[in-house]
Amino acid sequence: MDSSNLASIIQGIPKTELHLHIEGSFEPELMFEIAKRNNIPLDYDSVESLKKAYKFNNLQEFLDIYYMGAKVLIHEQDFFDLTWAYLTKVNSQNVVHVEVFFDPQTHTERGIAFDVVIKGIRRALEKAKDELNISYKLIMSYLRHLSEEDAFKTLEESLPFKDWIDGIGLDSSELGNPPSKFVNVFKASAEHGFKLAAHAGEEGPSEYIWEALDLLKVDRIDHGNRCLSDDKLVERLVKDQMPLTLCPLSNVELKVIQKMHEHPVAEMLEKGILATIHSDDPAYFGGYMNENYLETAKELDLNSNQLMQLAINGFEASWLKRNEKDEHISKVKAYFESLNS
Ligand code: ADE
Ligand code: ZN
Repeated sequence: MDSSNLASIIQGIPKTELHLHIEGSFEPELMFEIAKRNNIPLDYDSVESLKKAYKFNNLQEFLDIYYMGAKVLIHEQDFFDLTWAYLTKVNSQNVVHVEVFFDPQTHTERGIAFDVVIKGIRRALEKAKDELNISYKLIMSYLRHLSEEDAFKTLEESLPFKDWIDGIGLDSSELGNPPSKFVNVFKASAEHGFKLAAHAGEEGPSEYIWEALDLLKVDRIDHGNRCLSDDKLVERLVKDQMPLTLCPLSNVELKVIQKMHEHPVAEMLEKGILATIHSDDPAYFGGYMNENYLETAKELDLNSNQLMQLAINGFEASWLKRNEKDEHISKVKAYFESLNS
């Protein structure tokens, strides 16, 4: 595709973001501002020195810094400011629907009340719905390095806010913390009516993807890069049209792949997998939705059909209702048709 206007083509695509950790959208400038007003020292003395530390060899090195940054979030207003900054940013990139993860245990473990966290995030999401016309779902993630018992406590704490939460996720340190560790809490969460997603096959093996499907009974796999090493798994993902929410810049930054041109997304589309593209932790990995689309399109030389498929897959993979998905998908198709006329 002609790369001179690729950026403007990508800008114009109506997009959905389904794999975004709100704590991972914490830009260093805002982090320092909130740290200052809450009088909380950071391990770095300036935005520049913090940014210099954003060099990761694996998921854990990133998570250590990500949890450090989240420590400055104390008040409801802090969670509002964090979420609002993300929503205004993606609004400028023509993202029209978001499904956002939050990690309550990252905050409740530090003594921040569950309601403080969720009220701040929800207030920003509602404001974006009213003022920016961005629709949303909220996904509560369990931290997999903690115990299943801890996840059960979080589920209990969330129940007064059940109507504000659409689904459950599973994130944090993958290796050594397989989906099977969380079978009971996922079953209980499903019984409360929550949709289910889990990170699997980011650093972990393809067996973790099988476990997420067969034991946790998820509706969506986050990442899932490792599936291509297992033909039977690929067959299953295609047959079920199970969405994979891929995060290309994250994969490069966390050394899940060495270079963008090795990214599996094109091969996944080719095989008929419902692959989608998202940003994961944009403040840490060098880009939001547009940058993820752009780098992937450039390095894999994606054509406009592949770009359109990715955008359609995003809405297909979302937890919107069928008629809402169809409305968005027809706008995506109309946009690509307008490019050809
Ligand atoms: N939490 C935030 N980003 C994550 C990622 N990429 N993998 C697992 N847990 C995360
Ligand atoms: Zn993630």
